[in-house]
Amino acid sequence: MHNITFVRGDGIGPEISDAVMEIIKNAGVDINWDVQTAGADVIEEEGVPLPERVINSLKKNKIGLKSPVTTPIGKGFRSVNVQLRKELNLYANLRPCYNLPNIKTRYDNVDIVVVRENTEDLYAGIERQIDENTAESIKRITREASEKIAEFAFNYALKNNRKEVCVVTKANICKLSDGLFLESARNIAKKYNSVNFREILVDNCCMQLVQDPNQFDVLLLPNLYGDIVSDLCAGLVGGLGVAQGANIGDECALFEPVHGSAPDIAGKDLANPTALLLSAVEMLNYIGETKAGAHIKDALFNTLKQGIKTKDIGGSAKCSEFKESIIRNLQVC
Ligand code: NAI
Repeated sequence: MHNITFVRGDGIGPEISDAVMEIIKNAGVDINWDVQTAGADVIEEEGVPLPERVINSLKKNKIGLKSPVTTPIGKGFRSVNVQLRKELNLYANLRPCYNLPNIKTRYDNVDIVVVRENTEDLYAGIERQIDENTAESIKRITREASEKIAEFAFNYALKNNRKEVCVVTKANICKLSDGLFLESARNIAKKYNSVNFREILVDNCCMQLVQDPNQFDVLLLPNLYGDIVSDLCAGLVGGLGVAQGANIGDECALFEPVHGSAPDIAGKDLANPTALLLSAVEMLNYIGETKAGAHIKDALFNTLKQGIKTKDIGGSAKCSEFKESIIRNLQVC
């Protein structure tokens, strides 16, 4: 029996969470879910969007699955997602991006892993209003965090038979901050002779990704570029509905999709649960339930091959129909 924290999120969070929990149950994995709520909905009762109980549950269980939580734009509380990553020191954000069966995309054989530093950069939220017409944000980069994420990226490449790590910065302009990130990556690269090391500027990287994504293997980026570039990569393989992710630290790991709470489709049974399901598969692999992980992945791929797809990836199935089909395929695989 595994004790795992589940943050159900808001927007499309509850619908995709329920679908994924049901699929995992049907795959026969024995999980005791500690379901937690966070975000705007809990402020009224508990006064804060991220109550201590959520952090404590994750610290205790050391493994979590999370659906998206809405962050108010331009005002309001600080992102629950960013706070969680910071509080639990989930320093590595891992976002694999690859083609799935029967999803029409511009390129075949895309297989990119985005490794994003997850605790600093402009995400540290160090901002101030200087006067009515001027505001500033501080971009903080440290050698410690940069070397740690570079080590993670090279280690990941080595363990997963990846050929290259490409560090992505804007060190020609942000000479000190991105310069430090780049220098840290260069230092760590020297220890990994069997993995090729490449450097690219983020603007060129975006253009190259759109024109010829097959040239890339593992991308290593500071927090903000990592966030933006991973959405671009999601677009290469079918969109946010299929883009999985994981936040990994030394003590704890929290698996969550790349996408947000999708308020435009929330509550309509239109959401694609694939991104959360693939994040859950990685979580199962992480806790040693590799057989169940492979079984779920097969059932998902068979569902897609049978042409059962949600609207975002060119089909007409509702979230609930898609889930039912995956469960049927679990029973026949
Ligand atoms: P979003 O990712 O929620 O949605 C962007 C577009 O993708 C929308 O058209 C949406 O319908 C579609 N989409 C996203 N996930 C989908 C799915 N599973 N199935 C089908 N279509 C899907 O990004 P947006 O609108 O910029 O952000 C909405 C909220 O989510 C914001 O408050 C933002 O702060 C929050 N957010 C939370 C994240 C998290 O909890 N880790 C990550 C990103 C955003």
